[in-house]
Amino acid sequence: MLSEEEKREIEAELPHYERRQALCIEALKIVQKHHGWVSDEAVRDVGEFLGMSPHQVDSVATFYNLIYRRKVGRHVIHVCDSVSCWVLGCDAVQDRLCEILGIKPGETTDDERFTLLPIPCLGACDHAPAMLVDKDLHGDLTPDNVEALLERYT
Ligand code: FES
Repeated sequence: MLSEEEKREIEAELPHYERRQALCIEALKIVQKHHGWVSDEAVRDVGEFLGMSPHQVDSVATFYNLIYRRKVGRHVIHVCDSVSCWVLGCDAVQDRLCEILGIKPGETTDDERFTLLPIPCLGACDHAPAMLVDKDLHGDLTPDNVEALLERYT
């Protein structure tokens, strides 16, 4: 069940959209803000609230890569794997992150502090390789500078 607060926040967005269904991404973001991720139950509830099938909502959620359909850690690291970052060494950066965190891409650390996920171009190609940690963009990454960057995320 969507909480009253979630419903209120979703309803508050309604005037900005022509159709209720167009609110889907915004509604998913609101659910994720409250729960950290979007469960199957939440997909169903958002669908009921907006007049969409769970499949339609799930398609939107799956397409939008900042909506998490599985439980994630307190902080989510998205390492860009598009061409500029790849040419400039994102693989080595990701390998180093895996080594520091003891996880593979797609996994969450045992202490639930970090989840590591790939993402397409972050629009920071002039500072490739780049990654997003939560809402913070970090560029000019190297295998040597990523560990210090993670220290601020507790
Ligand atoms: S290719 Fe990585 S930020 Fe554009």
